Amino acid sequence: MSIEAWIRSRVALEPASSAELRYQRMAWQAAEPLPGVHRPADPARPFDWVDAAQIGAFLAALGEAKRVLDLGTGDGWPGLPLAQYLPRVVAVDSAPRRATLAQENARRLGLRNVEVHTAPAEHLPFPDGGFDGVVSATAIEQCGDPRAALREAYRVLRPGGRLAATFEDLRAELGAPVEEEAELYLEDEVGVYRLVHRSLSPLREAEYELRFRASTAVRRAAEALGPVPTFCAAPDEPGLRRVTPDDPVLGIPFLETAVGDLLSGRYFELAHRTPEETIALVEGAGFVDVQAFGNIARPAKAFFLALADAGLLPVLAAHMDGIALAFGRLYPHVPVGGTSVFFLVATKPQG
Ligand SMILES: C[S@@+](CC[C@H](N)C(=O)[O-])C[C@H]1O[C@@H](n2cnc3c(N)ncnc32)[C@H](O)[C@@H]1O
Repeated sequence: MSIEAWIRSRVALEPASSAELRYQRMAWQAAEPLPGVHRPADPARPFDWVDAAQIGAFLAALGEAKRVLDLGTGDGWPGLPLAQYLPRVVAVDSAPRRATLAQENARRLGLRNVEVHTAPAEHLPFPDGGFDGVVSATAIEQCGDPRAALREAYRVLRPGGRLAATFEDLRAELGAPVEEEAELYLEDEVGVYRLVHRSLSPLREAEYELRFRASTAVRRAAEALGPVPTFCAAPDEPGLRRVTPDDPVLGIPFLETAVGDLLSGRYFELAHRTPEETIALVEGAGFVDVQAFGNIARPAKAFFLALADAGLLPVLAAHMDGIALAFGRLYPHVPVGGTSVFFLVATKPQG
């Protein structure tokens, strides 16, 4: 039995959204400051060139777009780096904390052509046809209703406008048919237990947040866990780690002991789609010329790390924008597969 199956059989769960349960909680949405989002890009860092190449791919896919909407911007990716090259960027996120941070990041970077709204992608507060490009990075699949988000993207685009979006390729990411990660920590005298469950068949993820009275057993278990050297959503959290159902601290044995102290349980659940299924979904919203490509970051990483090894980045620093953006234009040559995201480009038909 998976830990998820145990939770589902034993806990009365309230449904929530990914924005409420995961993204609203995060202090930052990245393990380290992102170029063009939290800080200016630095030509001395090879990965800043890789990120710039990804922005180049978005720009190339958007064609001549001038007014662009970023759905699920998080801390401001890709909206804020794109705003360095576009006259107008509007960004939305349904998690108020993310929208506030994206707005602060834009202000800190001196981007006056960016507007950020707290709004769900499924109900955009914009009139029909007001944008000539819509972008999104691994956010449409995090929406409670991705179909509605795509219908809204279609509605707010002008005829001929482009959608350019990355999607998480969960199938490529999973190393096993089922993967579970958990964490446990104390927050204001409450033990918070989090489980992320991902599976290949069906291709889905779910996240659970169980809150326990901080009994001696809960407290002892939480205090036994050191931080893991990985991304932590908030400063007090130890970070998610891979667990098996029989794990004595984070598995079913712990939950059996703690269930008497359970205060509440919430969860969200998201279907993930393969590139082929995502193409069908986007076509279902009315888009045409829908194509999926691989992640430009993969060849960009090999190329710019090679330039860095050869000591060429300082020589080329003055041309960073031109080179990285030109690299991004190669996105149609990157086949889908082997990386954790794919890139999808589509057009709203004329007339
Ligand atoms: C994986 S994060 C990606 C954030 C950012 N685009 C990036 O690449 O760093 C997904 C984002 O989508 C937002 N989100 C989730 N559901 C949403 C919805 N229904 N409407 C708008 N944004 C949503 C989350 O709050 C989160 O910031």
